[in-house]
Amino acid sequence: MSDNTQIVYLNGDFLPMSEARVPVLDRGFIFGDGVYEVIPVYGSRILRLEEHLSRLDYSLNGIRLVNPMSHTQWKSVFEQLIEKNGNGDLSIYLQITRGVAPRDHGFPENLTPTVFAMCSPLKPLPAHFTSNGATAITTEDIRWQFCNIKSTSLLANTMLRQFALDKKADEAILVKDGNITEGSASSVFIVAGNEIITPPKGNCILPGITRDLVIELAHANKIKCTERNITLDEIKSCDEIWVTSSLREILPVTVLDEKPVGSGVPGPIWEKMYGLYQDYKQKIRSGEIQ
Ligand code: PDD
Repeated sequence: MSDNTQIVYLNGDFLPMSEARVPVLDRGFIFGDGVYEVIPVYGSRILRLEEHLSRLDYSLNGIRLVNPMSHTQWKSVFEQLIEKNGNGDLSIYLQITRGVAPRDHGFPENLTPTVFAMCSPLKPLPAHFTSNGATAITTEDIRWQFCNIKSTSLLANTMLRQFALDKKADEAILVKDGNITEGSASSVFIVAGNEIITPPKGNCILPGITRDLVIELAHANKIKCTERNITLDEIKSCDEIWVTSSLREILPVTVLDEKPVGSGVPGPIWEKMYGLYQDYKQKIRSGEIQ
């Protein structure tokens, strides 16, 4: 899919990516004043559509914007994008910004939001991730107080991911006041014994859709899963670490701060959960679940 063939949605129109234009005074460009979603699609079917759209509403409400489209309209846009971009496994990206206005910090009234959506091929996890696992570093969570809003203002997240990449690691796991919050673009789980633990929801983390699905799958399969704080000491001595997201599914972290996690290979509880997740995806593809 190149820029010439990729069809995107912008303010009511479907057009090639190379023709999509946003004015330079868009507040998304000037201030990062917008919110976004990333939604996986398996076999042309959307994973957890309502959950993603509810989180979008939550984010919009958090920055005092009204959703410019109904959920039915969004669904129709997504279905058209999927069809126009060749179907299959895709990831939808959408963003809504406050719109175009002379540069001034306060929110202007009666602005028309800019609405953009695109979809790109969703590649399976590289084999080395599932066979050897990923590497991560821990670092201070330098972000703001509204991490539960999926905001396009991602400078801190991009810096944190780059800190990890600079150290040849795949993800940065963030620490706030001695507790783990999340990854630079992922939710965090640990395994201690037979128990899965993930930090509780609140304003320090994004309420991950994959996170909720993992918790649901754990409960349905009688795997103990607890939502509570995880200390830095605890993550350094646990048996398994996973980071989850719409794009990386459930990624086992086998090296943390240059030291092996548990036995240094993807663990048995990850393997079980990864299998359950793949089964779930297959049921989305076949239409067995929506
Ligand atoms: N981000 N926490 C942060 C900070 C994230 O950026 C993401 C995902 C998650 C996981 O959320 P979900 O399971 O709903 O994808 C948690 C997306 C994928 C991104 O920015 O590309």
